[in-house]
Amino acid sequence: MELLFIMALFTMPLLALGHFQFINEDFGDFHFTAKSGRLPPKYYPMTERDLSASEKALELMDFIQLIPKIDPFSRGILTPVGIDLPFLWLKGKVYMTNFLVAGIKNFMVRNLDLRLNNLRADLNLTLPDIYVEGDFNLQASVGFIPILLTCHLSFHIINMDISVAGGSKLIQAPSVGEALQLDSAAIQIDIENVRANLTNVSFGGSEEETGLAIAQLFATPSSDSMYDGLLKTALKRINAELIKFSSDFFKDYLLS
Ligand SMILES: *[C@@H]1O[C@H](CO)[C@@H](O)[C@H](O)[C@H]1NC(C)=O
Ligand SMILES: *[C@@H]1O[C@H](CO)[C@@H](O)[C@H](O)[C@H]1NC(C)=O
Ligand SMILES: *[C@@H]1O[C@H](CO)[C@@H](O)[C@H](O)[C@H]1NC(C)=O
Repeated sequence: MELLFIMALFTMPLLALGHFQFINEDFGDFHFTAKSGRLPPKYYPMTERDLSASEKALELMDFIQLIPKIDPFSRGILTPVGIDLPFLWLKGKVYMTNFLVAGIKNFMVRNLDLRLNNLRADLNLTLPDIYVEGDFNLQASVGFIPILLTCHLSFHIINMDISVAGGSKLIQAPSVGEALQLDSAAIQIDIENVRANLTNVSFGGSEEETGLAIAQLFATPSSDSMYDGLLKTALKRINAELIKFSSDFFKDYLLS
Protein backbone atom coordinates (compact mmCIF):
# COMPACT_ATOMS: atom_id res chain seq x y z
CA MET A 1 0.00 0.00 0.00
CA GLU A 2 2.81 2.37 0.87
CA LEU A 3 4.22 1.64 -2.55
CA LEU A 4 1.11 2.88 -4.24
CA PHE A 5 1.40 6.04 -2.28
CA ILE A 6 4.95 6.48 -3.50
CA MET A 7 3.72 5.95 -7.03
CA ALA A 8 1.19 8.67 -6.51
CA LEU A 9 4.04 10.98 -5.50
CA PHE A 10 5.91 9.98 -8.62
CA THR A 11 3.25 11.45 -10.81
CA MET A 12 3.72 14.90 -9.36
CA PRO A 13 6.70 15.82 -11.54
CA LEU A 14 4.66 14.67 -14.54
CA LEU A 15 1.96 17.17 -13.91
CA ALA A 16 4.49 19.93 -14.40
CA LEU A 17 6.14 18.44 -17.45
CA GLY A 18 3.21 17.97 -19.75
CA HIS A 19 4.00 15.56 -22.57
CA PHE A 20 6.79 13.03 -22.91
CA GLN A 21 7.18 9.34 -23.51
CA PHE A 22 9.98 8.31 -21.20
CA ILE A 23 11.40 9.26 -17.88
CA ASN A 24 14.20 7.54 -16.04
CA GLU A 25 14.73 8.94 -12.61
CA ASP A 26 16.35 8.45 -9.23
CA PHE A 27 13.98 9.51 -6.52
CA GLY A 28 16.45 9.22 -3.67
CA ASP A 29 15.59 8.03 -0.19
CA PHE A 30 12.22 7.48 1.46
CA HIS A 31 11.34 6.98 5.11
CA PHE A 32 8.11 5.84 6.68
CA THR A 33 7.03 5.11 10.21
CA ALA A 34 3.75 3.88 11.59
CA LYS A 35 2.56 2.70 14.95
CA SER A 36 -0.49 1.28 16.59
CA GLY A 37 -1.20 0.55 20.24
CA ARG A 38 1.42 0.39 22.98
CA LEU A 39 4.29 -2.09 22.67
CA PRO A 40 5.26 -4.27 25.65
CA PRO A 41 8.79 -3.41 26.90
CA LYS A 42 11.92 -4.89 25.36
CA TYR A 43 13.26 -6.53 28.51
CA TYR A 44 16.89 -7.64 29.01
CA PRO A 45 18.37 -10.15 29.34
CA MET A 46 16.37 -12.48 27.15
CA THR A 47 15.69 -15.89 28.71
CA GLU A 48 17.06 -19.22 27.45
CA ARG A 49 13.55 -19.98 26.23
CA ASP A 50 13.43 -16.64 24.32
CA LEU A 51 16.75 -17.33 22.62
CA SER A 52 15.80 -20.82 21.57
CA ALA A 53 12.37 -19.70 20.26
CA SER A 54 14.03 -16.84 18.33
CA GLU A 55 16.37 -19.32 16.68
CA LYS A 56 13.44 -21.54 15.67
CA ALA A 57 11.60 -18.54 14.24
CA LEU A 58 14.68 -17.67 12.23
CA GLU A 59 14.67 -21.16 10.72
CA LEU A 60 11.04 -20.58 9.76
CA MET A 61 12.06 -17.39 7.90
CA ASP A 62 14.62 -19.42 5.95
CA PHE A 63 11.84 -21.79 5.04
CA ILE A 64 9.67 -18.94 3.68
CA GLN A 65 12.45 -18.16 1.22
CA LEU A 66 12.02 -21.60 -0.26
CA ILE A 67 8.35 -21.13 -1.14
CA PRO A 68 8.38 -20.53 -4.89
CA LYS A 69 4.92 -19.04 -5.38
CA ILE A 70 5.37 -15.70 -3.64
CA ASP A 71 8.21 -14.47 -5.82
CA PRO A 72 7.65 -13.15 -8.42
CA PHE A 73 4.20 -12.14 -7.35
CA SER A 74 1.76 -10.96 -10.00
CA ARG A 75 -1.81 -9.75 -10.05
CA GLY A 76 -4.09 -8.65 -12.88
CA ILE A 77 -5.71 -5.90 -10.89
CA LEU A 78 -4.89 -4.42 -7.50
CA THR A 79 -7.42 -2.89 -5.15
CA PRO A 80 -7.59 0.80 -6.05
CA VAL A 81 -6.08 3.18 -3.53
CA GLY A 82 -7.41 6.57 -2.61
CA ILE A 83 -4.98 9.45 -2.39
CA ASP A 84 -5.41 12.78 -0.73
CA LEU A 85 -2.54 15.26 -0.76
CA PRO A 86 -3.93 18.48 0.66
CA PHE A 87 -0.67 20.39 0.20
CA LEU A 88 -1.05 19.84 -3.55
CA TRP A 89 -4.84 20.16 -3.51
CA LEU A 90 -4.80 16.69 -5.03
CA LYS A 91 -7.43 14.10 -4.40
CA GLY A 92 -8.23 11.01 -6.39
CA LYS A 93 -7.60 7.34 -6.85
CA VAL A 94 -4.87 5.16 -8.20
CA TYR A 95 -5.39 1.94 -10.11
CA MET A 96 -2.69 -0.62 -10.88
CA THR A 97 -3.13 -3.36 -13.45
CA ASN A 98 -0.70 -6.01 -14.75
CA PHE A 99 1.11 -5.69 -11.46
CA LEU A 100 4.32 -7.61 -10.79
CA VAL A 101 6.71 -7.64 -7.83
CA ALA A 102 9.98 -9.54 -7.74
CA GLY A 103 12.78 -9.77 -5.20
CA ILE A 104 10.68 -10.07 -2.02
CA LYS A 105 12.19 -13.47 -1.31
CA ASN A 106 15.74 -12.18 -1.21
CA PHE A 107 15.34 -10.64 2.20
CA MET A 108 18.13 -10.81 4.76
CA VAL A 109 17.17 -11.03 8.41
CA ARG A 110 19.47 -8.82 10.46
CA ASN A 111 17.83 -9.45 13.77
CA LEU A 112 14.94 -11.52 15.15
CA ASP A 113 14.02 -11.49 18.85
CA LEU A 114 11.07 -13.18 20.46
CA ARG A 115 10.33 -12.28 24.08
CA LEU A 116 7.93 -14.86 25.38
CA ASN A 117 7.35 -13.38 28.86
CA ASN A 118 5.42 -10.46 27.39
CA LEU A 119 4.86 -11.75 23.84
CA ARG A 120 6.92 -9.13 22.07
CA ALA A 121 8.60 -9.77 18.72
CA ASP A 122 11.26 -7.64 17.02
CA LEU A 123 12.39 -8.15 13.48
CA ASN A 124 14.87 -6.24 11.29
CA LEU A 125 15.30 -7.20 7.70
CA THR A 126 16.79 -5.79 4.52
CA LEU A 127 15.45 -6.19 1.01
CA PRO A 128 18.35 -5.39 -1.32
CA ASP A 129 16.42 -4.95 -4.57
CA ILE A 130 12.69 -5.12 -5.20
CA TYR A 131 11.43 -4.71 -8.71
CA VAL A 132 7.89 -3.53 -9.30
CA GLU A 133 6.09 -2.91 -12.55
CA GLY A 134 2.58 -2.28 -13.66
CA ASP A 135 0.21 -0.12 -15.63
CA PHE A 136 -0.61 2.84 -13.52
CA ASN A 137 -3.74 4.88 -13.76
CA LEU A 138 -4.36 8.05 -11.79
CA GLN A 139 -7.78 9.64 -11.72
CA ALA A 140 -7.70 12.73 -9.63
CA SER A 141 -8.39 16.40 -9.40
CA VAL A 142 -6.10 19.25 -8.47
CA GLY A 143 -8.38 21.90 -7.08
CA PHE A 144 -11.26 21.66 -9.51
CA ILE A 145 -9.19 20.54 -12.49
CA PRO A 146 -9.61 16.84 -13.33
CA ILE A 147 -6.48 14.86 -14.16
CA LEU A 148 -6.41 11.50 -15.88
CA LEU A 149 -3.02 9.95 -16.32
CA THR A 150 -1.95 6.52 -17.46
CA CYS A 151 1.56 5.14 -17.84
CA HIS A 152 3.62 2.02 -17.63
CA LEU A 153 5.68 2.24 -14.48
CA SER A 154 8.62 0.13 -13.44
CA PHE A 155 10.86 0.74 -10.50
CA HIS A 156 13.59 -0.72 -8.37
CA ILE A 157 13.53 -0.19 -4.62
CA ILE A 158 17.15 -0.38 -3.51
CA ASN A 159 18.14 -1.38 0.02
CA MET A 160 14.92 -1.26 1.96
CA ASP A 161 15.46 -1.69 5.70
CA ILE A 162 12.37 -2.75 7.57
CA SER A 163 12.15 -2.80 11.36
CA VAL A 164 9.01 -4.25 12.88
CA ALA A 165 8.09 -4.67 16.50
CA GLY A 166 4.87 -6.30 17.59
CA GLY A 167 3.13 -7.07 20.84
CA SER A 168 0.48 -9.70 21.21
CA LYS A 169 -1.84 -11.26 23.71
CA LEU A 170 -3.61 -14.58 24.09
CA ILE A 171 -7.36 -14.64 23.85
CA GLN A 172 -10.02 -17.34 24.01
CA ALA A 173 -11.24 -18.10 20.51
CA PRO A 174 -14.45 -20.10 20.15
CA SER A 175 -13.24 -22.69 17.66
CA VAL A 176 -9.56 -23.24 18.50
CA GLY A 177 -9.31 -22.53 22.23
CA GLU A 178 -6.48 -20.11 22.90
CA ALA A 179 -5.32 -17.89 20.02
CA LEU A 180 -2.68 -15.20 19.53
CA GLN A 181 -3.73 -11.65 18.57
CA LEU A 182 -1.47 -8.71 17.78
CA ASP A 183 -2.48 -5.69 19.80
CA SER A 184 0.38 -3.28 19.15
CA ALA A 185 2.97 -2.70 16.45
CA ALA A 186 5.55 -0.23 15.25
CA ILE A 187 7.14 -0.27 11.84
CA GLN A 188 9.96 1.75 10.36
CA ILE A 189 10.91 1.59 6.69
CA ASP A 190 14.05 3.24 5.32
CA ILE A 191 14.69 3.10 1.60
CA GLU A 192 18.06 4.11 0.21
CA ASN A 193 16.93 4.83 -3.33
CA VAL A 194 14.09 4.35 -5.77
CA ARG A 195 14.90 4.21 -9.46
CA ALA A 196 11.91 4.47 -11.72
CA ASN A 197 11.07 4.38 -15.41
CA LEU A 198 7.86 5.71 -16.79
CA THR A 199 6.89 4.93 -20.32
CA ASN A 200 3.75 5.15 -22.45
CA VAL A 201 2.60 8.19 -20.59
CA SER A 202 -0.70 9.63 -21.66
CA PHE A 203 -3.05 12.23 -20.30
CA GLY A 204 -6.81 12.29 -20.72
CA GLY A 205 -9.00 9.32 -21.52
CA SER A 206 -12.32 8.66 -19.92
CA GLU A 207 -12.94 7.22 -16.52
CA GLU A 208 -15.27 4.57 -17.94
CA GLU A 209 -12.43 3.07 -19.95
CA THR A 210 -10.86 1.56 -16.86
CA GLY A 211 -13.98 -0.49 -16.17
CA LEU A 212 -13.01 -0.65 -12.51
CA ALA A 213 -15.02 -0.07 -9.39
CA ILE A 214 -14.55 3.26 -7.68
CA ALA A 215 -12.57 2.99 -4.50
CA GLN A 216 -13.40 4.54 -1.23
CA LEU A 217 -11.02 7.35 -0.55
CA PHE A 218 -8.87 7.53 2.49
CA ALA A 219 -10.30 10.56 4.16
CA THR A 220 -7.31 11.15 6.46
CA PRO A 221 -5.63 14.51 5.88
CA SER A 222 -2.01 13.87 6.90
CA SER A 223 0.26 11.17 5.53
CA ASP A 224 1.48 10.16 9.00
CA SER A 225 -1.93 9.20 10.24
CA MET A 226 -2.54 7.52 6.89
CA TYR A 227 0.32 5.10 7.57
CA ASP A 228 -0.96 4.47 11.08
CA GLY A 229 -4.33 3.71 9.53
CA LEU A 230 -2.78 1.32 7.02
CA LEU A 231 -0.94 -0.46 9.82
CA LYS A 232 -4.14 -0.78 11.84
CA THR A 233 -5.88 -2.29 8.82
CA ALA A 234 -2.97 -4.70 8.30
CA LEU A 235 -3.10 -5.79 11.96
CA LYS A 236 -6.83 -6.45 11.67
CA ARG A 237 -6.24 -8.66 8.63
CA ILE A 238 -3.42 -10.57 10.32
CA ASN A 239 -5.52 -11.09 13.46
CA ALA A 240 -8.39 -12.41 11.36
CA GLU A 241 -5.97 -15.10 10.15
CA LEU A 242 -4.29 -15.72 13.52
CA ILE A 243 -7.60 -16.42 15.24
CA LYS A 244 -7.99 -19.51 13.07
CA PHE A 245 -4.94 -21.13 14.71
CA SER A 246 -4.64 -22.44 18.22
CA SER A 247 -1.70 -20.90 20.06
CA ASP A 248 -0.49 -24.50 20.56
CA PHE A 249 0.49 -24.37 16.90
CA PHE A 250 3.15 -21.75 17.71
CA LYS A 251 4.10 -23.22 21.07
CA ASP A 252 4.68 -26.65 19.57
CA TYR A 253 6.94 -25.22 16.93
CA LEU A 254 8.84 -22.56 18.86
CA LEU A 255 9.24 -24.36 22.17
CA SER A 256 10.01 -27.85 20.94
C1 LIG B 1 14.86 1.84 -17.01
O1 LIG B 1 15.26 1.82 -18.36
C2 LIG B 1 16.66 1.65 -18.52
C3 LIG B 1 16.96 1.80 -19.99
O2 LIG B 1 16.00 1.10 -20.77
C4 LIG B 1 17.05 0.29 -17.95
O3 LIG B 1 18.42 0.10 -18.07
C5 LIG B 1 16.66 0.24 -16.47
O4 LIG B 1 16.94 -1.04 -15.94
C6 LIG B 1 15.20 0.53 -16.31
N1 LIG B 1 14.88 0.65 -14.90
C7 LIG B 1 13.76 0.17 -14.39
C8 LIG B 1 13.53 0.50 -12.96
O5 LIG B 1 12.94 -0.50 -15.01
C1 LIG C 1 16.53 -2.93 14.38
O1 LIG C 1 15.69 -1.79 14.22
C2 LIG C 1 15.62 -0.97 15.37
C3 LIG C 1 14.60 0.12 15.08
O2 LIG C 1 14.90 0.80 13.90
C4 LIG C 1 17.01 -0.42 15.71
O3 LIG C 1 16.92 0.36 16.86
C5 LIG C 1 17.96 -1.57 15.91
O4 LIG C 1 19.26 -1.09 16.11
C6 LIG C 1 17.95 -2.51 14.70
N1 LIG C 1 18.79 -3.67 14.96
C7 LIG C 1 19.60 -4.21 14.03
C8 LIG C 1 20.37 -5.41 14.47
O5 LIG C 1 19.71 -3.76 12.91
C1 LIG D 1 3.74 1.05 -24.96
O1 LIG D 1 2.94 1.38 -26.06
C2 LIG D 1 3.32 0.67 -27.22
C3 LIG D 1 2.49 1.19 -28.39
O2 LIG D 1 1.19 1.54 -27.98
C4 LIG D 1 3.09 -0.81 -27.00
O3 LIG D 1 3.47 -1.56 -28.15
C5 LIG D 1 3.94 -1.26 -25.83
O4 LIG D 1 3.69 -2.62 -25.52
C6 LIG D 1 3.63 -0.41 -24.60
N1 LIG D 1 4.59 -0.75 -23.56
C7 LIG D 1 4.20 -1.07 -22.35
C8 LIG D 1 5.32 -1.45 -21.44
O5 LIG D 1 3.03 -1.10 -21.98
